[in-house]
Amino acid sequence: MDYTVQPAASLHGTLQLPADKSISHRAAMFAALHQGTSTITNFSEAADPHSTLDCMRGLGVVIKEPGENTIIVDGVGRDGLQTPSGDLDCGNSGTTMRLLSGIIAGSGVSARLTGDESLSARTMKRIIEPLRAMGAKIEAREDDYAPLNFRRDDELKPLHFPLPIPSAQLKSCVLLAGLFGDGPTEVVETLPSRDHTERLLNLTVEEKEGKRMIRSSREDVVPGQSCRVPSDFSAAAFWLAAGAIHPQAEIILPGVGVNPTRTGALGILQQMGADIEITNEDREGAEPVADIRVKSSPLTPVTITGKVVPNCIDEIPILAIAMLFADGTSRVSGAEELRHKETDRLSALADILESVGADFEEYKDGFTIKGDPDFRPEQAAFRSFHDHRIAMAAAVLALMGTDTSTVINGHCTAISYPGFWKDLSMLTN
Ligand code: S3P
Repeated sequence: MDYTVQPAASLHGTLQLPADKSISHRAAMFAALHQGTSTITNFSEAADPHSTLDCMRGLGVVIKEPGENTIIVDGVGRDGLQTPSGDLDCGNSGTTMRLLSGIIAGSGVSARLTGDESLSARTMKRIIEPLRAMGAKIEAREDDYAPLNFRRDDELKPLHFPLPIPSAQLKSCVLLAGLFGDGPTEVVETLPSRDHTERLLNLTVEEKEGKRMIRSSREDVVPGQSCRVPSDFSAAAFWLAAGAIHPQAEIILPGVGVNPTRTGALGILQQMGADIEITNEDREGAEPVADIRVKSSPLTPVTITGKVVPNCIDEIPILAIAMLFADGTSRVSGAEELRHKETDRLSALADILESVGADFEEYKDGFTIKGDPDFRPEQAAFRSFHDHRIAMAAAVLALMGTDTSTVINGHCTAISYPGFWKDLSMLTN
């Protein structure tokens, strides 16, 4: 379904954002591995975490949904997962497929993991290689892509694994497989990626000489996951950018997850001069939360390098829109990983920005973009490439337009943010 967006005269309001997608996936999976019941409130309503719930049910875990975004998971413990009677459909969700692969390989259950067209085109080699090094028996299409077939096997060997790419999905996959091993599996991280897995599983983390060593083994007790999931910083980022670039804006976002491994975009927007205030800092279980307020701000250009990319990887599409309204040329490098997301996000950004005549140059691992605070795009039909974050970035760009624009297949926002279009209209009315 296509969505039309009118230019916004102003953006004002307080939004209760959707629950964090990364934490929702993990809380549900880890609750299943816990021996006992977990009650998770404010669980994400989005499509991706529901793919995780469906897969966990396929593995024999009873999950009740009594309403109001609460889920009750009857954990079966590490040895209680059952062989599914059919495929486990991960939908569009890379996190579901990659984390679940670690659990399935570790538990020794035979299972076949499938995904939609986009997920089936995303590389799985990065997880297949370490899992095979641990002894898992996996077959994949072209030895790289879903469907992934796991064959029942004996216990996995522990692995010492320096992460070849700063990916939290890869890190989590190996650590989850390691939870089933009888010796410590150790993942070594040089550029820190989101650390929800370590936090929620309470794993041992050692920091030495600028590296993080994270260990897991059968000796780790999987804690219960009863918690309230914070609001998703990755959803907040769209409104932080919109509020900063729009000349008549003030947006308040309460109870947002502000885990420092996730909030790279907050620091980047502040560095660009965005008027952002953080208040009511608190905790929801293992995760820090806060209220965030943003107001219209003149922005200066910024340079983003590979070092900070893992902490803003999902926010780069919307940061590119903010850069378009900064006074000068911004640069992003070390972000080749964007080519392996739900779509190739570097070329999708090029498509969107070039369609409004922006001065955008795409490179193998990033881009440059010449911003102008007075830039106002004319009417456009933005292609979303069925990618939720591209659709939402295009919608924010359309709010700055001179005429009504369209976001093609804008319904894909439901992958992470089902209420996006409602929130957009609330802010503009
Ligand atoms: C995620 C990690 C990131 C991110 C994705 C969610 C997670 O992927 O892009 O949206 O929940 O672990 P990578 O870790 O592969 O970069």
